[in-house]
Amino acid sequence: MAQQFDVLVIGGGPGGYVAAIRAAQLGFKTACVDEFKNAEGKQSLGGTCLNVGCIPSKALLESSENWERVNHKFAAHGITVSGAKFDVSKMLERKEGIVAKLTGGIGFLFKKNKVTSLFGHGKLLSRNGDKWQVEVDESGKTEVVEATHVIIATGSVPRQLPGLPVDNKVVLDNVGALAIPDVPKKLGVIGAGVIGLEMGSVWKRLGADVTILEAAPGFLLAADEAVAKEAQKIFIKELGLKINTGVKINSTKAAAKSVKVEYTDNEGKDHTETFDKLIVSIGRVPNTWNLAEQAVGLPLDARGFIEVDDECRTKLPNLWAVGDVVRGPMLAHKASEEGVAVAERIAGQHPHIDFNTVPWVIYTSPEMAWVGKTEQQLKAEGVEYRKGQFPFGPNGRALGLGETAGFVKMLADAKTDRILGVHIIGPFASELITEAVVAMEFNASSEDLARIVHAHPSLSEAVHEAALGVDKRGLHS
Ligand code: FAD
Ligand code: NAI
Repeated sequence: MAQQFDVLVIGGGPGGYVAAIRAAQLGFKTACVDEFKNAEGKQSLGGTCLNVGCIPSKALLESSENWERVNHKFAAHGITVSGAKFDVSKMLERKEGIVAKLTGGIGFLFKKNKVTSLFGHGKLLSRNGDKWQVEVDESGKTEVVEATHVIIATGSVPRQLPGLPVDNKVVLDNVGALAIPDVPKKLGVIGAGVIGLEMGSVWKRLGADVTILEAAPGFLLAADEAVAKEAQKIFIKELGLKINTGVKINSTKAAAKSVKVEYTDNEGKDHTETFDKLIVSIGRVPNTWNLAEQAVGLPLDARGFIEVDDECRTKLPNLWAVGDVVRGPMLAHKASEEGVAVAERIAGQHPHIDFNTVPWVIYTSPEMAWVGKTEQQLKAEGVEYRKGQFPFGPNGRALGLGETAGFVKMLADAKTDRILGVHIIGPFASELITEAVVAMEFNASSEDLARIVHAHPSLSEAVHEAALGVDKRGLHS
């Protein structure tokens, strides 16, 4: 007799493992099936985010930022360091240690919450009465389990450049970009998106000559224009990244130790460059490979995402999908919130996720973070707004940190003063943005934030000043 579950989650990333824990907390007999194997061939829960995404990238960003501080920032504090060296293998080891700690932690949480962890590839076979039959395939050893509800959280995989297979030796996706054993002399990056900028920063700080080739006509078009402009200036002038937008890749040819890229720049000039390594970071696509028998009729949209409604329901009975495999931003926190909400809906509760207040963060130096509408979106939508902006330059805490680049920009409705968007580039933007998210979630006005006491000296005073600035009563600008 097949193992029976109330809830079976396919995928153990931030969408899936969180859904499984919440379902178990709500009293459901729950299992989570995940197929991810680490470099040692062992199961490692946590999906892309914990294994080869959010967590390892932030570990390497911090290590490389420390090297940058030693070389370029400590001197201003009167600290001289001589004979400083770094060891890439130690950095990678530290990164792997953090990953092991967090992924192992999920196993612990599963045990604590009595979630059954299954290792293998999950595939929807059919309906048996009111149950889903799901095959779990561990390297050819198969088992069929049954569940009343199935939550699909199979995530995404990197989009490939046609004709250039990833070998993670010379042509790298996120997995290879996070595990380069020695700093390459010349590193090419195709795509100036989030991965391109974060990983490009890591390897540039460690000494690689980094060239980023971006197809879009401008830089970071999804960000607020002022933030993108400031970031582009800093990345080019201070960090030394070579960022080329409006580029057309004409051909690529990988060899054993290098890869040749022919491209046309935004002025129509042709170039040929040979890189020691090439990171391909041109977006990610939903992962539905071998996920369901044809007869199941898994509903997919034109771009291959599993079709769901606002509450993550597919049109098939008791079949749900969350995270990168469905519409919306491919972000870990969005995946997790959807996972929690689905578990609660299965329990008959009525949770709500406000997709308008999902924060975005890019962990470069300086960091960028935003929530809500950009100024260009408000203009395009014909919304009347007022704007407050405050730089980190005069902020006492930023000066103490020696991190004065950037600003906070707040956009509020011209009539109601309701905050419509907050855009930050600067130190700890990733942390500062939460104040704006909370404010927007509670429908706050800029006046509300302007009237709240902010600690002094703190970076959050820049948020306060931006709020004051909306009403043109900034005290320090
Ligand atoms: P995933 O994390 O992709 O998990 C899916 C899991 O399902 C995987 O373990 C996969 O092996 C497994 N699986 C797939 N199919 C099956 C199957 N049929 N059977 C069994 N198992 C299966 N987001 C942020 O919010 N912040 C960041 O800082 C950030 N940094 C990132 C850095 C990089 C380099 C990358 C690549 C991504 C980053 N992201 C970040 C995005 C984030 O990783 C994803 O949004 C998040 O992991 C999505 O979670 P998920 O649960 O939907 O899918
Ligand atoms: P992305 O969508 O952020 O950026 C891809 C870039 O590649 C775009 O600017 C696009 O115009 C460009 N591009 C596409 N095709 C191209 C081509 N043929 N030639 C040149 N340029 C081309 O995707 P990325 O960086 O791969 O990251 C995938 C996703 O992972 C992100 O969208 C994000 O959701 C998530 N992520 C989130 C992070 C965070 O939250 N800090 C960090 C890293 C990834």
